[in-house]
Amino acid sequence: MNALEARGLVKRYGGLVAVNDIGFDLHDGEILGLIGPNGSGKSTVMKLVMGIERPDAGSVKLDGVETVGWPSYRIARAGVGIVFQHSRPLHRQTVLENIKLALLPDSLLRLTATAGVDDRAREIADSVGLGDVLHRHPATLPFADLRRMEMAKAIARDPKVVLIDEPFAGLTGGEVETFSELIRALRAQGHAVLLVDHNVKSVAALADRVLAMYLGQQVSEGTVDEVMRNETVRRVYLGGTLEASQRNGAAAETRPSLLRVEDVSVFYGKAQALEHVDLHVNEGEFVSVVGLNGAGKTTLFNAISGLVPYAGTVAFGDHALAGRTPAAIARDGIVQCPESRQLFGDMTVRENLDLGGQHLPAEARAEQLAWLFELFPILESRQGQVARTLSGGEQQMLAIARALMMRPKLLILDEPTLGLAPVILEQLSNALERLRASTPITVLLGEQNVTFALPHADRVYLLEHARVVWEGEPAKFAAVMGEGYL
Ligand SMILES: Nc1ncnc2c1ncn2[C@@H]1O[C@H](COP(=O)(O)OP(=O)(O)OP(=O)(O)O)[C@@H](O)[C@H]1O
Ligand SMILES: [Mg+2]
Repeated sequence: MNALEARGLVKRYGGLVAVNDIGFDLHDGEILGLIGPNGSGKSTVMKLVMGIERPDAGSVKLDGVETVGWPSYRIARAGVGIVFQHSRPLHRQTVLENIKLALLPDSLLRLTATAGVDDRAREIADSVGLGDVLHRHPATLPFADLRRMEMAKAIARDPKVVLIDEPFAGLTGGEVETFSELIRALRAQGHAVLLVDHNVKSVAALADRVLAMYLGQQVSEGTVDEVMRNETVRRVYLGGTLEASQRNGAAAETRPSLLRVEDVSVFYGKAQALEHVDLHVNEGEFVSVVGLNGAGKTTLFNAISGLVPYAGTVAFGDHALAGRTPAAIARDGIVQCPESRQLFGDMTVRENLDLGGQHLPAEARAEQLAWLFELFPILESRQGQVARTLSGGEQQMLAIARALMMRPKLLILDEPTLGLAPVILEQLSNALERLRASTPITVLLGEQNVTFALPHADRVYLLEHARVVWEGEPAKFAAVMGEGYL
């Protein structure tokens, strides 16, 4: 029997048809993959099923019972759980408390009193690998653990149908494997799973069937092979492969130094996040820092940007940056596009971009804007849309565009590939190449996606457990690190 039957789903936002006549069946013990470019309507489909948004037309049946129009807590009670694209933990509560609240969403007050709930919450935490961090607060957790917590919350009440939105984004190869195992286990237990992710390989490995969307509509449905071979899917979603361009590392080495990080250490309480890190970036160079989650990449960038205190020296050009405010450092020309995006959610796309370019003379600003619209056409057509309502990938594009609006001397990109469709990665990759060819920009890139980080780089640093453990040319990286890291 079908656990879930969706028919003719339509969702409009003003003039935009985000979901246009989408229907599918989902059986018990089955994983249905939902793929498509950024903004194609995948997350919206999940919200319609979950009752977070109400469809303008169509039907959703859970075990044969119509649920359209039900509030989302009722749909949750009837057996649907969702893992959101972005983690939304309660920061004042511990991991255990967050999971308990998911178990008892209707009875906050009984949180401490209910026996059995504590045991059940621990059991769930164990099953997703959170057993050791039960009493930590979400803010102190590594990224993968936050995703685990979202997973734990979604399956807390043993839902029949589990909706999982981009579980792999930001996870490393090994972590993706672990999460894939968790999802397979859900299927083995008889759950019906709807899975969205841009990690095509992993979705292909998991899904029993795949449905591909584009501009709100279904473009293909079938087995993984059928859908991946589909002409439209290839063109609008998968794209080609990233091109590696030849670098002349030696030439870049002789250019004047722009950024020097010397003997930098950072502590968060007792935990050491960076240990005696040395790194330099020359003018016009493209340097990639690769490393697993929690290796210290973001901490390194935050130290450079003046966002966390550190011991040691960070110098930009001929002056040390210690003691300067983040704002002064940004005015100096170091612009960080953070992993967390930090867009102004209530402002429009255009307002976010204008803020980025506010220091530029009008003409330069217009020029920069035109260039960015060429790079990310979706941003041009969505200038008036409130940033918070953009799809995950659209927000990522806006964050990168806003950083570029500032015309930085040194652009720091922290995990720019997060949540981007393969075809957009290709565009971004080409854009970075063009940027290098046509401007004097210098780029420091943090990535765990080695396939993206290597082709562009003049030099690569490998960060592991707070330390730089290797430095060299990208061509040598694969040879030295072996297949294991990739
Ligand atoms: N409240 C809203 N107002 C206006 N437009 C919206 C709103 N919510 C979503 N949209 C738009 O609807 C489209 C579909 O969004 P959705 O989040 O479903 O995309 P997605 O397929 O999940 O993309 P991604 O892979 O980038 O996460 C996007 O273009 C988005 O900007
Ligand atoms: Mg989405």
